[in-house]
Amino acid sequence: MKKEATINDGVKAFPGFPVVLVSTRDNIITVALVHRFSYNPFMLGIGIAYSRYSYELIKNEKEFIVNIPTVDLMDQVKLCGKISGRDQDKFAACGFTKVQGKVVNSSSIAQCPVSIECKLVDQLELKERVWFVGKVLAVQKEENYNAAKAVMIDRGNYLVIGEKVADR
Ligand SMILES: Cc1cc2nc3c(=O)[nH]c(=O)nc-3n(C[C@H](O)[C@H](O)[C@H](O)COP(=O)(O)O)c2cc1C
Repeated sequence: MKKEATINDGVKAFPGFPVVLVSTRDNIITVALVHRFSYNPFMLGIGIAYSRYSYELIKNEKEFIVNIPTVDLMDQVKLCGKISGRDQDKFAACGFTKVQGKVVNSSSIAQCPVSIECKLVDQLELKERVWFVGKVLAVQKEENYNAAKAVMIDRGNYLVIGEKVADR
């Protein structure tokens, strides 16, 4: 039987979310608030707090790249989610290779197996964060990319996707 719970309990009841590295020209931020907002055309939304350096950068540059890291990049995922690009060059701190986007001027991360280039087309300004909506213009993907090795987060624990229970 369900019981009355707090709003916080309800929101935290969601199972895991994917974790991505969003890159601009010279910075990277770890992001769990990422979703496919539309399929035709393909749009991705990212929820970025106003306090982040990345907020200023995306607002000014109007482009970003969603890079999907795998579990071998766990240290870098943590680092990009802890320090600010205002204080340190995260490409250098992570040992990441900067690759000029094919269509946008943002830099993608060579070490991530998937990079999705987006142009900012809309934004939803909420109280403590903005949802930037990017139209997907180009994708680079390693042929042997395995989504089962992509990083997810669930209430403070990093995970990979679990066991299959049914076909769609
Ligand atoms: C797993 C994880 C997920 C995160 N998700 C988000 C997010 O969705 N949006 C956000 O604004 N910050 C998120 N953060 C926090 C930022 O990554 C962190 O504050 C970062 O240092 C900001 O970097 P910047 O100031 O260079 O933009 C997350 C951090 C971690 C570790």
